[in-house]
Amino acid sequence: MEIIHADIAIVGAGGAGLRAAIEAAEIWPEGKIALISKVYPMRSHTVAAEGGAAGVIHPDDSLDKHFQDTISGGDWLCDQDVVEFFVERAPAELAKLEHWGCPWSRTQDGHVCVRKFGGMKVPRTWFAADRSGFHILHTLYHHTTQFKNITRFDEHFAVDLIEYDNAIRGILTYDIQNGVFRLFCAPAVILATGGAAQAYHFTTNATIVTGDGMALAYRHGVPLRDMEFVQYHPTGLPGCGLLITEAARGEGGVLINKDGYRYLQDYGLGPETPKGEPQNRTMELGPRDRLSQAFWHEQKKGRTIQTPHGDVVYLDLRHLGATKLEERLPQICELARAYAGVDPALDPIPVRPVVHYTMGGIETDCHTATAMQGLFAAGECASVGLHGANRLGSNSLSEILVFGHEAGLQAVHYAKNADACDAKRIENIANEQINHVMNRFGKKINDDSTAKIRHEMGTTMEKYVGIYRDEDGLQNAANIIKELKIRQKALRVSSPESRVFNFDLLHILELGFTLDVAEAMVHSALGRRESRGSHQRIDGDLQAYTKRDDTLFLKHTRAFYRENDNPMIQYAPVTITKYPPQARLYGSAEKQNQNN
Ligand code: FUM
Repeated sequence: MEIIHADIAIVGAGGAGLRAAIEAAEIWPEGKIALISKVYPMRSHTVAAEGGAAGVIHPDDSLDKHFQDTISGGDWLCDQDVVEFFVERAPAELAKLEHWGCPWSRTQDGHVCVRKFGGMKVPRTWFAADRSGFHILHTLYHHTTQFKNITRFDEHFAVDLIEYDNAIRGILTYDIQNGVFRLFCAPAVILATGGAAQAYHFTTNATIVTGDGMALAYRHGVPLRDMEFVQYHPTGLPGCGLLITEAARGEGGVLINKDGYRYLQDYGLGPETPKGEPQNRTMELGPRDRLSQAFWHEQKKGRTIQTPHGDVVYLDLRHLGATKLEERLPQICELARAYAGVDPALDPIPVRPVVHYTMGGIETDCHTATAMQGLFAAGECASVGLHGANRLGSNSLSEILVFGHEAGLQAVHYAKNADACDAKRIENIANEQINHVMNRFGKKINDDSTAKIRHEMGTTMEKYVGIYRDEDGLQNAANIIKELKIRQKALRVSSPESRVFNFDLLHILELGFTLDVAEAMVHSALGRRESRGSHQRIDGDLQAYTKRDDTLFLKHTRAFYRENDNPMIQYAPVTITKYPPQARLYGSAEKQNQNN
């Protein structure tokens, strides 16, 4: 086992990890920063983000509007102090990216272009065509290369955290390329490992998005918060799940059912804005949870289109014309042609809701600190309290910048003052953890496989923990996941000849992480007997759980890991500063409310 001493170890080199590394390296030139990533940084899932990043810049916008949109989007489960912190910092972060080379799309007169995303009162989403994630990631990655105090460790899989006395001491990794274990001793660790959408079968997320960081923190006593809130993006390509960005609707795309009817007007999101009036959180620019729920109802009414890859509706962009499509949405044109066989300038694109984002994650405070000293978390793996029950599109790319920056800053403060660690003790813990992993190389016990278990997990989550949920279904899911966890523990590496690029080992360990996260999702959903944002129940006496219940559930869910038992679920208050809970209205209902 090789041992590396660093001041700060960052796990994950997507947007949040890179931004954290830059901040730490800049303010602490003598600090040694280890940037550890399961993949080469440019393959991190940030690269797949398309539509853009939210930040107030438009003359009609204000910090207050961004604040309010985020909170109503999150169905009042956002911590309002965190939202204030976020909206104030997002524009400067986006401008900083520009200075580092991010090619934001521009208007003819040179202003930064912004477009509307769902749930926004005014245009707020900065974009680089529809390849925003690619350009953001590239800019950040390129910027890290100028810091001599950042050392990258690509293709290193985080096996376990090293902690004692409730303080983080380092992290054990498996160097996939060389097949060796590498121990990082560091007084501060930042987890920036992304979400856990691979708990579901049909997702926009890359196969690497397996909840590793969430599970690591969770297993070591840090609660996962609000895990029941899993976002379905309304427009994924059937079959492959590739994202068709919300920007397509921001640019004017419409959703139609099998009769060519714009069905969203039947779900409290209409009517269509009259020509000449600004669209205001109506129809296709409603929030994602509402749009995905509308699809579910259309499907029940038999108004969707059947395909070999499940039911779909159509996203119609034809009226935008080929020139605008190629300028603003080149990537989705490419994806639609390659993966759905349609040219968006000529044909509507078949789309269906697809799992996209985990609103919940590792519980942190507003400054990214977790319950474990020295352990910080930022980006999708964290639950800083920003998104509540439903994230607004384009808030996450800004989140990785604002809270990546904050994590870097806080980790430096912590690491500078941390006590020296006990090297021998850390090494002993790491050796035990290595033994644990090496036990996976034992004799195969049965014919079970990672692929089978992963498939059953994904389909179970989809069937019972999807857009709508009920007690029986959730209980079924809980039983199945429990069973799958037992089966996962019995898996053994089927190609034990070498540890170099041993993906069999890697996938077994990843699956263990994802199952733990899936279990937290299910039990958090079981406990929340109400409907809010992306968590919609269709049960309860007199259908009591179908409504939002602020008396009992204006609370965060906290799931605590229990080895060989169900998670323990607790609740904690939501921070409300200046925007008290009210009905969540869009479309004409919102307008009516404003006029009264
Ligand atoms: O639709 C999109 O471009 C997704 C953006 C997001 O999840 O923020």
